Amino acid sequence: MPLYPMVIIKKALGLDALRMAAVGDIHCPRYLELLQESLRKASDFELMLLAGDLVLRNDSSQMPRLLQTIRDFYKGPIIACLGNEEFDESLQAYRKFKEVLWLHDEAEVLKIGNSILGIVGSRGSLDRPTFWQRKNVRGIWETYSKRLRRIDDLLEDMKAKKPDFMVVLTHYAPTYKTLLGEKEGAWPEMGCKGFETLIAKHQPDAWIHAHGHASIQHEAFIGRTIIVNASLPARRQISILEFPRDQVASKSSYAKV
Ligand SMILES: [Fe+2]
Repeated sequence: MPLYPMVIIKKALGLDALRMAAVGDIHCPRYLELLQESLRKASDFELMLLAGDLVLRNDSSQMPRLLQTIRDFYKGPIIACLGNEEFDESLQAYRKFKEVLWLHDEAEVLKIGNSILGIVGSRGSLDRPTFWQRKNVRGIWETYSKRLRRIDDLLEDMKAKKPDFMVVLTHYAPTYKTLLGEKEGAWPEMGCKGFETLIAKHQPDAWIHAHGHASIQHEAFIGRTIIVNASLPARRQISILEFPRDQVASKSSYAKV
């Protein structure tokens, strides 16, 4: 029986919480206005996670516009992973936007306020590469299974560092649970159920993903890990996750704005 979900509003309960915002599938410029509206309503978070598909069709020239929109409301750290709309061959073009910490099958430990956050970021994997990927991307099956092993290793290493909170950020879903509402036949090409085993094994505090634009089940639990589909077109708002600092042992709570 998980200890949550429960909606915690930090100020109402007087809790000192690490508060992070998460959003993906902005497909700038398509949903930029929606992002702007949502940011206008949300505030007071210490970290922003971008779960891929930040721009449309690998148009990295949209990044300054996206970042300016975020910066109009928020000045703190931004962490991102690539989506399927940000191509591997353009990774360096995205890394040029240095105010964003890009995690591409990588992990980082950060101090946020007085909390230590361990974060692993990746585009993620699919159980079945899309038709286009099967035809055009050499070794894609192997890439996806290697990525599963890579994230397993990163989480194992991260656990040894004992951060206060451990979060995973991917574009693709790590379970089908948060894809409910999408066509069931498409789920294997939208996520990778193999990650469920890793979630059960490592129990990160949260796993944030996007890509499920039509999902109607935005959160799910595997053990004590909350999985959050932060897709902007699905939720029509950014997601806010709170991790009470003074209850590190009992771990995170979840709220949305
Ligand atoms: Fe996507």
